Amino acid sequence: GDKMLIAPSILNANNLTLKDEIKRATNAGITRFHIDIMDGHFVPNLSFGPQLVSDFKTEFPITEAEIHLMSNNPKVLIPAFVKAGADLLEFHYEAMQPNEVKYWLDYLKSNGVKAGLVLNPDTPIPVVEQFKNQIDQLLLMTVHPGFGGQKFLENSASRIKEARELVGKDIAIEVDGGINQQTARIAKDAGANVFVAGSYLFEKGDIASQIAKLTQSLS
Ligand code: DX5
Ligand code: ZN
Repeated sequence: GDKMLIAPSILNANNLTLKDEIKRATNAGITRFHIDIMDGHFVPNLSFGPQLVSDFKTEFPITEAEIHLMSNNPKVLIPAFVKAGADLLEFHYEAMQPNEVKYWLDYLKSNGVKAGLVLNPDTPIPVVEQFKNQIDQLLLMTVHPGFGGQKFLENSASRIKEARELVGKDIAIEVDGGINQQTARIAKDAGANVFVAGSYLFEKGDIASQIAKLTQSLS
């Protein structure tokens, strides 16, 4: 689609003031949050569980919860996050066998949850071809997953272009990692339309003015 969407990642937000930060962001026009789920195994970091997602949906029922699952235990975690109220769930191609990818994309669809597939920076784009008809969104990692605050990888623009040619215009292409005013523009020009931003929004000053700056650079 033509509409650009900013999805704040709450990974590096202050956990104890999260509700106020989310409120400020929704007041500034945010309609979707990106919630990073790290299991300490697929990536060397630990983050949130299903309770965070169900609390989020109770407090902010009309705001979308986008779950970025970084785990190779889909069997336990995908149903748990669906039950918790995920609006969109995206999981890693690298975390399972291709037949399992198909199975879990089907599972999400039949539970009315938008389905996304995530590719690490070193995974070849053409692997997406076989899942094209099953996904609402493709997430291209623009850093190696695990931590916020990393630098946008140089090869990202050409990967986004290649992916856009492969999936056509109806599947959303999201970027995650190192997004700021400059890199968001680079990603947009290459064909991305959904932008995750963590440290740029939560650690660089007032969140409303950071959102305004990012929106401006995408217009
Ligand atoms: C990294 C996570 C990202 C991260 C983004 O593994 O998937 O969502 O929080 O943080 P920034 O925007 O700081 O790179
Ligand atoms: Zn993420």
